[in-house]
Amino acid sequence: MGRAESLLQSMTLREKVAQCMQIAYTMVSKEEAKEWIRRGAGSFLNVLGKDAQELKEYAAREGKIPLIFGIDAIHGHCLKKGATVFPTQLSMACTFDSALAEEIAAATAAEVAADGLHWTFSPVFCLARDLRWGRVGETFGEDAYLSGELGAAMVRGYQGRKLSEDTSILACAKHFIGYGESVGARDSCDTEMTYRKMRDCFLPPFEKAVQAGCATVMTAYGSTDGLPCTADKKLLTDILRDELQFKGFVVTDWANLYHIIYRQRIVSDYVEASSVALNAGNDMMMARLEFYDAAVEAFEKGMIEQSVLDEAVRRILLVKEDLGLLDNPFKQAQSVLIGCEKHTALAEESARKSVVLLKNDGILPLRNVKKVALIGVNADDVRCNYGDWTYFTHPQPNLETQPVRPYVTLKEGLESLAKAHGAEVLYHRGYTRGEEEPETEGALGLAKQADAVVFAGGDFITQAGEAKDRADLSLDAVQRKLFAALKATGKPIISVWLTNKPVCAPEIDENSNAVMTNFCGGMFGGQALAEAIFGEINPGGKLPVSWPRHVGQLPVYYNDLGGWHAERYADMEKTPLYVFGHGLSYTDFEYESAFDEETLTLFVTVKNVGTVAGEEVVQVYFRDKVATVMTPVKQLIGFKKICLAAGETKRVEFTFTPKTFSFVRADEKRVTEAGEFEIMVGGSSADEKLQKITFRIDKTAVFA
Ligand code: NOJ
Repeated sequence: MGRAESLLQSMTLREKVAQCMQIAYTMVSKEEAKEWIRRGAGSFLNVLGKDAQELKEYAAREGKIPLIFGIDAIHGHCLKKGATVFPTQLSMACTFDSALAEEIAAATAAEVAADGLHWTFSPVFCLARDLRWGRVGETFGEDAYLSGELGAAMVRGYQGRKLSEDTSILACAKHFIGYGESVGARDSCDTEMTYRKMRDCFLPPFEKAVQAGCATVMTAYGSTDGLPCTADKKLLTDILRDELQFKGFVVTDWANLYHIIYRQRIVSDYVEASSVALNAGNDMMMARLEFYDAAVEAFEKGMIEQSVLDEAVRRILLVKEDLGLLDNPFKQAQSVLIGCEKHTALAEESARKSVVLLKNDGILPLRNVKKVALIGVNADDVRCNYGDWTYFTHPQPNLETQPVRPYVTLKEGLESLAKAHGAEVLYHRGYTRGEEEPETEGALGLAKQADAVVFAGGDFITQAGEAKDRADLSLDAVQRKLFAALKATGKPIISVWLTNKPVCAPEIDENSNAVMTNFCGGMFGGQALAEAIFGEINPGGKLPVSWPRHVGQLPVYYNDLGGWHAERYADMEKTPLYVFGHGLSYTDFEYESAFDEETLTLFVTVKNVGTVAGEEVVQVYFRDKVATVMTPVKQLIGFKKICLAAGETKRVEFTFTPKTFSFVRADEKRVTEAGEFEIMVGGSSADEKLQKITFRIDKTAVFA
């Protein structure tokens, strides 16, 4: 009998129930925390190293099963001061670089493990198709293929070769499922989605997580078609366990038991809630202490079978065993330094790779300028590079906390590079947050002296994150007025969006000579943008979301099912301002492609026809020309990042299988139907940029 199994055999009913509990350290006193340890609690969240150590020692003294400590280390172990802050997931997604995502996750895991913690609630596999949703910055953007690839890479990075290694931690694929798609982008509301649609668009990224060996999955707050995910047995058991063969354990999101009683109103009390959650396939309940007595009562009333409870506990214990905790509850990465040079260098590299050049009339890279006026508060505020889930925002918002070095804001980055380029940077904040009028006098004074203006605009962290959905994505009026005043000087303007997610101010993009972003690029986000402005690096990032002109266009994702009647809204275009996959470079690339129908292999030759080296993301899309249900107008099925010296040519290959060209039918079966397909390749999803090849598949295939 294995270790986990023999422990299970020795446990009382109450110990088993407690093992299924995750206690929120922020919600209990230290004495209460210890009381929960005596009862046999399985896990804690929101504890950092020092306190975790004390709890571990206490559990050991009491002879308890080792605890698992979970934390939201979602772009670095950023709740801890001094840890490396990587670009947010959305920023990371701009790199289209799976190997980089894996490295970032491995570095994060090492820092979490060095803090003595075991589990990160990351990556997020939700799709951000309605950008009003507050949590867009936590996602890899709107596309299932991109999210699946990058997310699976992060799972591999977090979990390492073996979970028992010192620097490995548990990954958590979240939020299962459809959370980003809730009606009106209202966080945790119902998602109007059938199982067909779920399987077609939203399940594949989670499937990749499971294939990558992800040890845990978190149930979403929301519901699909009126059934809360926490209570959805078909989702959590039939699909996740039986079909996808998920072997780890499922944790609910924060207080999901409370929500199914009081918000979603599908059960009337905790006794029912506990049984519904366990029976559906949740193994660990986050942050709801009522579960303890309620689950015991439900068990005694026969509402929970012994086998169901045992299975939940077994899954948790097996993961603890895999982690090596049953051998050493004090497991901790000893050789890793939190915020070490190796990791900060990786953060710097990642920030560079996430820079997306959205527009350039040739002004960039900046040359022969003596004075650059930098205008905008976001340029001088590291919180605009950090994004959510850092010590500024969690576990309690503390926006005034002093950040720790190293970090480089856009202002600092431009200032440090300017000298070498014979330039001087004149900075003015331009406005004060919360004020309605810009401080034009000071800002214009500088702009008028300058050869070029860098306008740093965007949202602020109070406008993004969990429970911070926005009804309007327009840029604040004060920033728009400021920009208009700057424009009136007639100086060339480079606009930099330092923002958690796209903001809508199309007149700014249209009236700028160049536009760029890396969203929240982490501790070196500002430096990377400055380097791109001065041409020290050549931007190679691509947009992982369609950037809308106006909030009323949402959702406006690239892979919709198409339609007809009216190319435009009566009052504006239907197309986004920048399409998915868009991103310019200081050089140009030419494509040639050929497709072998026999082997389903695409050969792409890319030539750098400019005068500087550059990175390109080769993107492959397809379209099923005729199918028995509607299918996307195009769908990403492959991407590869390549680096080309000036004049260099590289050949890349993509080999597909018939399943690549599949969709989900009304009977929920995945199928590739015989017929004609179109494969498209290029450096963006824009139709005019894609080379198209038509091919046939002669046999219909139905996949299990
Ligand atoms: C709620 C969030 O939805 C989830 O993403 C997070 O991991 C948990 N809280 C824990 O903090």
